[in-house]
Amino acid sequence: MEISSQHFQVSDVRGRILDVLGLGSPGGQRILAVIGKGGVGKTTTSILLSLVASTRFKTLIMSIDPAMHLVEYLGLGDAIGRFVHVKGNLWAYQLDLDRSVRDLAENYTMHVRDLLPSLKVLNLDDVIDIMKSVPGLEEEVYLRTVREATMRDFEVVVVDTPPTGVTLRVLTLPRLYNLWLGKLIELRERIVALRYMIARTLYGEREVRDRALDKLYKLKDHYSTLEKIFTSPTHTSYILVSNPEPLPYTEMAKAIDYITRNLNQKPKLLVMNKVSLAPSSGDIMRVFCSLQFPKMVIREAPKPPSTLSDVESLLDYVDLDFCEKSLSHL
Ligand SMILES: Nc1ncnc2c1ncn2[C@@H]1O[C@H](COP(=O)(O)OP(=O)(O)OP(=O)(O)O)[C@@H](O)[C@H]1O
Ligand SMILES: [Mg+2]
Repeated sequence: MEISSQHFQVSDVRGRILDVLGLGSPGGQRILAVIGKGGVGKTTTSILLSLVASTRFKTLIMSIDPAMHLVEYLGLGDAIGRFVHVKGNLWAYQLDLDRSVRDLAENYTMHVRDLLPSLKVLNLDDVIDIMKSVPGLEEEVYLRTVREATMRDFEVVVVDTPPTGVTLRVLTLPRLYNLWLGKLIELRERIVALRYMIARTLYGEREVRDRALDKLYKLKDHYSTLEKIFTSPTHTSYILVSNPEPLPYTEMAKAIDYITRNLNQKPKLLVMNKVSLAPSSGDIMRVFCSLQFPKMVIREAPKPPSTLSDVESLLDYVDLDFCEKSLSHL
């Protein structure tokens, strides 16, 4: 079989992308969180990286973006809210946000009715409707969806995320919840201890478990695991995507700052997508190239990729040495 030089080059690009993502050698499960402003190419980049990862690992591309563009690119139509096989080692999951919010509201309703039996006089659907409007429910759905993926046997999970602001807040929620739960647990433990002391003294009752406290311990466990996952550089890698335009770039710079300060993490890879070499983008490319993190440039393709194979062809437009080669010309 004749191997063209282009084939060599593309294979080499795949290997280099794996190396830069820290996927050059086997390890535990890795999450690649792809973050960036709307329209910069998050879904495209996520698909591209998951295709590359799947050459060596059992890979899941998961979109928690309610815009649901992933299924369009993959041609998966109605495959929403379930794990579907794409090809080879690649699987996909598109979150159905509305459905999942409803399911979670139902789940919360059951817990609340269990803890507060007086609510049973209300119609179940009315309570679920109230629960659906509880602030933070969507964020909790995003967290649970990622957690569920991490409990499956995927070696690499690529997460195509919602807009940057939402994503960054979601990533730091586990730490905030942990602080808050720590205080709640302390308070509940004091109440429970007092209650049992009184019960033992008055009625000689033996200690029994407190269901609310058990639930709080369980929640703390859930958020501690998520906090560990998001702050562990060996488990989660952050890939920030931008275009050579002022607003997307400003958002990328803010995201770098945010994950550094709040998650104690560095970006694994900065992707500058749709680079056309127009002179107007020179300033942004110069600043981008000065950043001290691994970088990847994807040139603008003549036709916007809209299918899996279009995205795979974008590998021809990937340049991992752009800055080294072009800096003097910028
Ligand atoms: N390198 C590229 N060259 C040409 N077109 C591109 C390139 N990368 C992405 N596109 C096109 O840009 C558009 C936006 O890409 P994509 O859907 O991946 O962005 P996104 O950040 O996921 O957007 P959204 O925030 O809407 O989910 C699409 O039409 C896509 O085909
Ligand atoms: Mg998208």
